[in-house]
Amino acid sequence: MGLLTGKTALVTGAARGIGKAIALKFAAEGANVAFTDLVIDESGLATEAEIAAYGVKAKGYASNAADFAQTEEVVNQVKADFGSIDILVNNAGITKDGLMLRMTEAQWDAVIAVNLKSAFNFIHACTPIMMRQKGGSIINMASVVGVHGNAGQCNYAASKAGMIALAKSIAQEMGAKGIRANAIAPGFIETAMTAALPDDVRAEWCKKIPLRRGGTTEDVANVATFLASDMSSYVTGQVIQIDGGMNM
Ligand code: NAI
Repeated sequence: MGLLTGKTALVTGAARGIGKAIALKFAAEGANVAFTDLVIDESGLATEAEIAAYGVKAKGYASNAADFAQTEEVVNQVKADFGSIDILVNNAGITKDGLMLRMTEAQWDAVIAVNLKSAFNFIHACTPIMMRQKGGSIINMASVVGVHGNAGQCNYAASKAGMIALAKSIAQEMGAKGIRANAIAPGFIETAMTAALPDDVRAEWCKKIPLRRGGTTEDVANVATFLASDMSSYVTGQVIQIDGGMNM
């Protein structure tokens, strides 16, 4: 028996990166996994196959998480295909960095829509299902910059702070229905998003991290698995930083 055997998880933006690592870890722990991404191309289909290789049900759905109507549609489809939705991970996210003075309205709107409104869309569509099931675990992917702010990322940091307050509010509204909601705040994680950084910037980052390394996608997936599972049945409304101790 895995930690998530018998549960169905829905992970947004999981064709690659952190979302994919979470989907794979959930599958390794026995969960059936539905995931979304903007397109399900060859690499998305490969992700689907990697998840299914754990002997669980797996399916990728093309859907824009920032779109309210598309989200309702995809959640209904997942419910029809899988029968239940017990775990929701709001992972889809983008960056469009820039200092405030140079930031365009389009940069601001895009990041808020993809990073924050998407979570509203999915929580709005999934919680009626979870309420009927009398339980569920919602995990919002925030970031350490959502706790501490970051120069040059006011749109991103605001969206991630929003993800934390959204999780705390849902935890308060839905606790009596058996629904838990928490946020994960990763620090510097080695993914496509951070691979673009020059080596000296990376080295500078690592010096500030007590554990002296960037995190792996598995480091994040492990905490997501804890929050998704009944191991965390008395944990709700929390933010867990996964940052090697960078921000205490
Ligand atoms: P990534 O760029 O590798 O993966 C993000 C996925 O989301 C991609 O597959 C992308 O196609 C998908 N996506 C983007 N917009 C979408 C939309 N509108 N609808 C559906 N899917 C969409 O990024 P990564 O690094 O895996 O990040 C995942 C989450 O973790 C994001 O929310 C990010 O903000 C957060 N995070 C990442 C950190 C890092 O160091 N990599 C640190 C802190 C937070």
